[in-house]
Amino acid sequence: MPATHAQVVEAVLAARHFRHLSPELVARVTNIEAPKAPRHADAVDRVKKRLHQVSNAYAPSLHAPRDAIEAIRAATGDDDALRTLSISLMYGHASTAERLPDIDIVVPALRRAIMPDAAAPPRRIIDLACGLNPLLLPWLGLPRTCKYDAYDVDSRLIGIVGAFLEAWGQAGAATVQDVGGDPVRGTADLAILMKAVPCLDQVQPGNARRVLEALDVRRAIITWPVQSLGGAQKGMRATYRRTFEALIEGLPYVATEVTLPGELAFILDRTDGAPSDPD
Ligand SMILES: C[S@@+](CC[C@H](N)C(=O)[O-])C[C@H]1O[C@@H](n2cnc3c(N)ncnc32)[C@H](O)[C@@H]1O
Repeated sequence: MPATHAQVVEAVLAARHFRHLSPELVARVTNIEAPKAPRHADAVDRVKKRLHQVSNAYAPSLHAPRDAIEAIRAATGDDDALRTLSISLMYGHASTAERLPDIDIVVPALRRAIMPDAAAPPRRIIDLACGLNPLLLPWLGLPRTCKYDAYDVDSRLIGIVGAFLEAWGQAGAATVQDVGGDPVRGTADLAILMKAVPCLDQVQPGNARRVLEALDVRRAIITWPVQSLGGAQKGMRATYRRTFEALIEGLPYVATEVTLPGELAFILDRTDGAPSDPD
């Protein structure tokens, strides 16, 4: 039976392993993938495969997000309990978890990148395709008045991140948003785009470039994983360095490479004048 767009989207969102994903991302992936498979069942499979690759593969062990949210809420006001909880929760996201063995190196490097001048801390940060990265907040030393706005397509992650921001008393919000189809608008001091470019470009080549072009930020941190999820190295550093160079060509940023274990990382500083004050 030939596939209609609406039927494929409906079938994917009805599946247990996919119903937590942004309907906008499911619709966008269906637009791209369904026309390549004339039969309904094949179209659904193609869409699921792509969604697994760009999102589900990272959170295979996130079984009880509601329990996590309850535990976070119960720890509100107890910074030590929230720190302990955030470490155990971060192990639920493969990509975020990769940083944990090196947290003593990662945290100072991120602090320097996020807040180069302690006297002028950022007022708004946008974390695009955040995973559980915002759970590192207790180590970053940001003022809790700094708006930390986090976006991901996985509503289970966003539920956890939102509860965490609230319990930690951090300004800002967590939003389910397909940042590739609906780029984040508004000004900010800093955009964080960690290990997200391959996911964006897997849906549609050139997508990450459009996301970068839409940014209105003074600084961005952009990283690539230099190991695959399975642990293989496969020359990823050299490949992603070339991707990075092509990605920022002609954009108004100057790039500085940063040492971050397991990641190829750059800071981008705007060269054509800072955007107006953050929203
Ligand atoms: C490789 S992980 C990186 C997570 C996090 N930035 C980190 O470094 O720990 C990619 C994340 O991007 C999210 N994602 C993939 N495509 C997205 C999109 N179009 N919009 C928003 N989030 C997306 C996935 O759900 C996943 O959590």
